[in-house]
Amino acid sequence: MAPTELHETARAIVAGHKGILAADESTGTIKKRLDSIDVESTEENRRFYRQLLFAAPGIEDSIGGVILYDETIRQSADDGTSLAEVLASKGVIPGIKVDTGAHDHAGYQGEKVTEGLDGLRARLDAYRDLGARFAKWRAVITIGDGIPTDGNIRANAHALSRYAALCQDAGIVPIVEPEVLMDADNTLEECWEVTTRTLHETFAALYEDGLDLQGLLLKPNMVISGKGCAEQASADQIARATVDCFLGVVPAAVPGIVFLSGGQSEVQATENLNAINRIGGPWTLSYSYGRALQASALEAWGGDPANAEAAQSVFVHRARMNSRAAAGEWSAELEQPVPA
Ligand code: 13P
Repeated sequence: MAPTELHETARAIVAGHKGILAADESTGTIKKRLDSIDVESTEENRRFYRQLLFAAPGIEDSIGGVILYDETIRQSADDGTSLAEVLASKGVIPGIKVDTGAHDHAGYQGEKVTEGLDGLRARLDAYRDLGARFAKWRAVITIGDGIPTDGNIRANAHALSRYAALCQDAGIVPIVEPEVLMDADNTLEECWEVTTRTLHETFAALYEDGLDLQGLLLKPNMVISGKGCAEQASADQIARATVDCFLGVVPAAVPGIVFLSGGQSEVQATENLNAINRIGGPWTLSYSYGRALQASALEAWGGDPANAEAAQSVFVHRARMNSRAAAGEWSAELEQPVPA
């Protein structure tokens, strides 16, 4: 098949060991992040903070795409340039979160299903006009007593596939994100089993709906021990389990797998990605981190404009470390103390 614009966009986002900055926290989630540094979550503070990240000198060397939130894609930098254009002018591709959140799945105690399909075709057209060339939809799969159920996995896979089809129709690359949460007390083996079921069902839905696999990106969890599990797997064990699991269920036609960090510490997320790339697979293996790219930068900023430059260099350092990890060339010695 001749490469299409969708194929080219999907590949460009992860080319050259670059990854994605997930800066698409909903208004509720960004409030929690700002609360943690005692900054009030006003529209202006949210704008200032996102501008700080997007305008960081050198971001384009390690970040190929940024996922924005609805509010952010409509905001502008101090000089009036839209924030999407700030990114695009540096060759960083703007993306947009389009789901409207994970909500209780009726009839499925303790499980969530993601909403946002109603009116999505028109919203995608509007987002494309605002500069978005890729999108994100996050499904959440919860491990617990008797869950996830097959019915919940199927409902989430179906919604992901309908979203992805609408994106491709609109000329937007869908990021398909079925996230198996890592905050239970399950073992690595249980995460493997649930991730396999989830990815299998997701790709079955994508196949049934005729999606073009070369024109999408997969954003999954790593196969990892739950946070509450007494026995925590090493980076090498996580990498082996993740690659082996994916070889069984993710078609090689998918151009890129961009992991979420899901609550891992910054360095853990980098170390695990590096170990995964030391093994490698038929896909480009990179990152689409939110917390693991922003935690130190947020703290370095602390809401004080005088700290903006220091926060930018902390952020760019983190992005560089992950880009090294996407090449399988990261080592702990590269983690220099961050400039004050
Ligand atoms: P984390 O890397 O913080 O998990 O966020 C990534 C993301 O976009 C989740 O949808």
